[in-house]
Amino acid sequence: MSRKVILFEEILVLFLPLFYNSHGYFVPQGSVGFGFNDYFTLTNTTKHTYGQAFDSEPYSITNSTTNITSSFSVNFFFAIVPEHKQQGSHGMAFVISPTRGFPGASSDQYLGIFNETTNGKTSNNVIAIELDIHKDEEFGDIDDNHVGININGMRSILSAPAGYYDDKDGNFKNLSLISRKVMRLSIVYSQPEKQLNVTLFPAELSVPPIKPLLSLNRDLSPYLLEKMYLGFTASTGSVGAIHYMMGWFISGEVEYPRLEFGRLPILPPYPKKPSHRTRTILVICLTVSVIAAFVASGIGFVFYLRHKNVKEVLEEWEIQYGPHRFAYKELFNATKGFKEKQLLGRGGFGQVYKGTLPGSDAEIAVKRTCHDSRQGMSEFLAEISTIGRLRHPNLVRLLGYCRHKEDLYLVYDFMPNGSLDKYINHSNTSENKEGLTWEQRFKIIKNVASALLYLHQEWVQVIIHRDIKPANVLIDHEMNARLGDFGLAKLYDQGFDPETSKVAGTFGYMAPEFLRTGRATTSTDVYAFGMVMLEVVCGRRLIERRAAENEEVLVDWVLELWEKGEDILDAVEESIRKEQERGQLELVLKLGVLCSHQAASIRPAMSAVMRFLNGVSQLPDNLLDVVRDEKSRGWPEQMEMLFDVDLSGTSRFTDSLVSHGR
Ligand SMILES: *[C@@H]1O[C@H](CO)[C@@H](O)[C@H](O)[C@H]1NC(C)=O
Ligand SMILES: *[C@@H]1O[C@H](CO)[C@@H](O)[C@H](O)[C@H]1NC(C)=O
Ligand SMILES: *[C@@H]1O[C@H](CO)[C@@H](O)[C@H](O)[C@H]1NC(C)=O
Repeated sequence: MSRKVILFEEILVLFLPLFYNSHGYFVPQGSVGFGFNDYFTLTNTTKHTYGQAFDSEPYSITNSTTNITSSFSVNFFFAIVPEHKQQGSHGMAFVISPTRGFPGASSDQYLGIFNETTNGKTSNNVIAIELDIHKDEEFGDIDDNHVGININGMRSILSAPAGYYDDKDGNFKNLSLISRKVMRLSIVYSQPEKQLNVTLFPAELSVPPIKPLLSLNRDLSPYLLEKMYLGFTASTGSVGAIHYMMGWFISGEVEYPRLEFGRLPILPPYPKKPSHRTRTILVICLTVSVIAAFVASGIGFVFYLRHKNVKEVLEEWEIQYGPHRFAYKELFNATKGFKEKQLLGRGGFGQVYKGTLPGSDAEIAVKRTCHDSRQGMSEFLAEISTIGRLRHPNLVRLLGYCRHKEDLYLVYDFMPNGSLDKYINHSNTSENKEGLTWEQRFKIIKNVASALLYLHQEWVQVIIHRDIKPANVLIDHEMNARLGDFGLAKLYDQGFDPETSKVAGTFGYMAPEFLRTGRATTSTDVYAFGMVMLEVVCGRRLIERRAAENEEVLVDWVLELWEKGEDILDAVEESIRKEQERGQLELVLKLGVLCSHQAASIRPAMSAVMRFLNGVSQLPDNLLDVVRDEKSRGWPEQMEMLFDVDLSGTSRFTDSLVSHGR
């Protein structure tokens, strides 16, 4: 979604990212210096205006052939900063509409959705969840601080004063929509139950309260046409308000996801009138220069000069990651002076050393990367800003960083059992550690799948790993797998254009369309994951020159066995080939072939992969027909649901439209 830039307030806005980063909040990815991809505003200080923002692609809620409406859930973060502390403007809404935008909508009480003529028309087919901060008697509003469910018009079908039911004591807690605090709205619709739950709560709670604020028992399918657009609107009246939109998460299932927001941002004050503003700017400039002078003298001029070239870009995250900053001396001592003996390996961007933090027994892995090239620097920034904020048991935890001379250091939890590639691919060599049992391997596969699912579909933003391979899967002391090396991870975020990014990855794990276009997607990650699955179960390299000709390329060989009706288990590594495990082994082999299919449209989304792995869904019987159909034109529609192929595309908003008008 593109953002409207506030023109006159630019100077104030430019200070924002620093402020935001210092609060450990979304760091604008890919934008070194000032960028503020982390939110956008639906309205500015203009009175009697509205803003609309829509997803560029429609969302198929109702399947045209089967006429089945799917359930869905929408979560988003927002905040409203009003012109006057005690008085709201009009508010904002989440909308589901058959059209991309509402041409001719009115501002003020119509929230940029309807106008006098369209309001209340049954032909609208618009569902809106309003966050209303103005009491409009004409629509029977209950107060000037409520959440309402509206269908086709501004009169709410159901509404309640803003607040939430605390899980601890079940008591209702008031919330003020215009409090400038970041809040989250969770909208969950279950088609089987024909129930719509709406829950408003402070962003600090990472999971929604159990009791929803509004629960509407109604079949929404009559209003949900085949293709619907999802969007947000907001409007102002004679009083101004800035409506901020932050992260969102949309899925085609009934779910109440945990969304960690990190530390919460403090939003800028409502921009003051020019005379005031000049003074504010002056005050801010003065304050900043005083602080800068103070900091500069503190750090020392020499230091400053030496690091001048990277200074600006480092400032941002240095502030954010301040507490996690390690002194170089500490890391030097921890790794015994980066001795060769401590070297764990060499990766994409540098060497990894093992260390023990002085004063504690904490074992760490220190990755040293050089940043004399711009490329290295942006990768470093990507890594630190991404991993620093991710929390998942199957992701390697980043403990902190350090900068010294031309080098940058990342400190991770040490993974005593090394990486997955040491356990596979070496079946004929003596350096092979004791082979993994099937149970262990299956767990590793599920662990990686769960980490990927988190990155693709469960975090606030879609994250593409871009370099999934056994060497990037680390094994912890309990033999759990953790995904590491986000050096290539880029937040697949609004404003970020994946096409301009450099092509990087590991040969063999790169999907054909990625090689062609250089465009990484969640689907290219799924491709690499499919390859990893095959490697883990077959215990050999993807391409084995020494093998018989038809067995050279692993995925082709497995497919051949499968197609010819031979025993697909022949491809499985001998030590784990057991008849009683046939079910799981076949599942992983077939899923591996499916995930690493040439055609991206055939590959399932990670949510579907997880369901297959957990035995929640079964692979369809005619899977081989699907896999064989290289062109994938005959993709059976009923499988869209099973594979979530459709949903993976809509779990994020891509380039979309923000329009404004009076
Ligand atoms: C606010 O947005 C409107 C509509 O996009 C635009 O015309 C106007 O210039 C903006 N005002 C300010 C102060 O940025
Ligand atoms: C919550 O808001 C309602 C209505 O504005 C008010 O009557 C009530 O006293 C408030 N409760 C608390 C705990 O502030
Ligand atoms: C709505 O909330 C109620 C109460 O927590 C819950 O029992 C019900 O399953 C929820 N419905 C949906 C569609 O999530």
